Amino acid sequence: MVHIDYSQLAEKYGTPLYVYDSKQIEDNIRRIARSLNYRHSTMYFAVMCNNHKNILSVIRRNGLGVQINSVHELQLVKKAGFKNSAISFTSTGISTDLMKTLIREGIRINLDSVEEVDKFCTLAQNRKFGVRIRIPKSISARSLQATNTNRHSHIGIEEKDFKSVLKMADAARNSITGVHGYFASNVLEMTPFQHYAPYMCTMASSFPDLEYVNFGSGFGIPYAPGQKAFDIKKILALFALHVKALSHKYDRPIELIIEPGRTILADAGSLLVQITNIKHLNSNKYEIAIDAGYAELARPLLYGSYHAITTVNTTHRQPVNYDIRGNTVLQNDFLGKNRMLEKVREGDYLLIRKVGAYGAVMASGFPGKEIPKQLFL
Ligand SMILES: Cc1ncc(COP(=O)(O)O)c(C=O)c1O
Repeated sequence: MVHIDYSQLAEKYGTPLYVYDSKQIEDNIRRIARSLNYRHSTMYFAVMCNNHKNILSVIRRNGLGVQINSVHELQLVKKAGFKNSAISFTSTGISTDLMKTLIREGIRINLDSVEEVDKFCTLAQNRKFGVRIRIPKSISARSLQATNTNRHSHIGIEEKDFKSVLKMADAARNSITGVHGYFASNVLEMTPFQHYAPYMCTMASSFPDLEYVNFGSGFGIPYAPGQKAFDIKKILALFALHVKALSHKYDRPIELIIEPGRTILADAGSLLVQITNIKHLNSNKYEIAIDAGYAELARPLLYGSYHAITTVNTTHRQPVNYDIRGNTVLQNDFLGKNRMLEKVREGDYLLIRKVGAYGAVMASGFPGKEIPKQLFL
């Protein structure tokens, strides 16, 4: 990580300010690419975690494709210079208009339901497409820090419907060439992935025209103290092992695809904020108010997510127990509770860490605020 003078940045650009370290993004990409030790593999960056044009340009420079899930993202990635062949689309509830656009542009698409397959086959013939696989609830993240889990979801096509989608595809002279899966976000446990990898490859082998297995992502990162780093190398090696076995079975190379977002961006971004008020709660407890909150960073209120908070330029001051409160009217808008920080004063700056993914892109401005600026170093 490069040394950054955050006070200077705050004075120059104002706060709240998202600050990204482009080198860290590139380091993360390289680390994941090195772990993806399989010749026929493709990495699509999940644009949903942050679609800023500067991030897209780092992604393109590093040779990754992009995973998108809306027409807006399609426009953004095309503007950023991505070719149609470097774009993969996976979403739910795809409208007829959007599907027509994706077909016209020849973008790789993974369909979520029997109904979407039907729609696709009415609109297009002699084409390829992939299907999203319904991941059973038995393969699910158990730990609390995981979000976006499949526990209550109907995303994807069930195994019992494979025959009918194959029939629809056949009737329209289309071929089902890929499978796609995703079961939860920010998963730190190994066990669900150890069940997921063989499950995906077993499902994939129902499709005679198979060309790829897209495992999505969900790879977690440690946000809170004591959380262990996710062993992405081990999981990618496991994916490779199963896809190699499939390649052997099909007697042709099957492509292994992943779509990471968080592992590329989260630790490359911080939210720089200023302390606007300090409330004395009791003899040893204070509440800090800052010039940001739910409007700028939704994850803590939305998911109870932990983000490390650090002081800026306060070396050697006495540690004090603080709650850090967002400046909205929402009663539970806390960015952190019971954080031991060096004693701070009104006007000092704080950094909320690891917010590069699902930070700025989820900033709603609610209630009554502007969307924060984003700065790239
Ligand atoms: C289909 C799909 N692919 C990729 C991602 C990115 O996942 P992550 O940020 O966990 O790497 C998501 C996130 O929800 C997703 O839904």
